[in-house]
Amino acid sequence: MVNSRIIVYSSNTGYTEQYAKLLGRALDMPSYKLGNVPECHKGAEVIYLGWLFAGKIVGYRKCAGHYKVVCAVGVGMSPPGAELAEGLRNTEKIPSGVPVFYLQGGFDIARLKGPMKLVMKFKCKEIAGRLSAKSELSAAEQLTLDMCHGPASAVDRANLAEIIALFK
Ligand SMILES: Cc1cc2nc3c(=O)[nH]c(=O)nc-3n(C[C@H](O)[C@H](O)[C@H](O)COP(=O)(O)O)c2cc1C
Repeated sequence: MVNSRIIVYSSNTGYTEQYAKLLGRALDMPSYKLGNVPECHKGAEVIYLGWLFAGKIVGYRKCAGHYKVVCAVGVGMSPPGAELAEGLRNTEKIPSGVPVFYLQGGFDIARLKGPMKLVMKFKCKEIAGRLSAKSELSAAEQLTLDMCHGPASAVDRANLAEIIALFK
């Protein structure tokens, strides 16, 4: 085993990958796409980051089936909220000893194809309608609204501060 702790991620359009690379640099850990982890890391402890698809952390279960996941991170377009991480824990049945985080990522509908693009076209209309009706938006809500209208990203090293502090 080369590194006893590594970062593994799944990313559809690249925003989660950006977080994985930023985290890897901050913690001096290698990061690999799920399915591309070299054999030498068999048995490693994993910080797992996955993009959110319909409230699920893509690839979490697969990763947890092969590695000891010591931290799970879901990356979505929704504004962050304290209840989101706990919701992900319940949906994915993540054990209580494993910290779970939610990070706001990015969204660019032009990078999607086929049914996903169609579904998200409707979803974005619904989200934009809901947010536009609010009299005031937080910065994170504004970003989600921006994502519904064009490419926008919340990816920022600062959002990783808590995770970095935990594993530094
Ligand atoms: C089909 C589909 C379903 C999604 N479902 C969710 C969701 O349930 N919650 C959320 O916050 N974001 C959701 N998103 C947004 C993505 O999770 C978000 O854009 C993420 O940053 C994409 O990361 P990636 O670039 O690594 O793929 C969804 C996106 C797609 C395409």
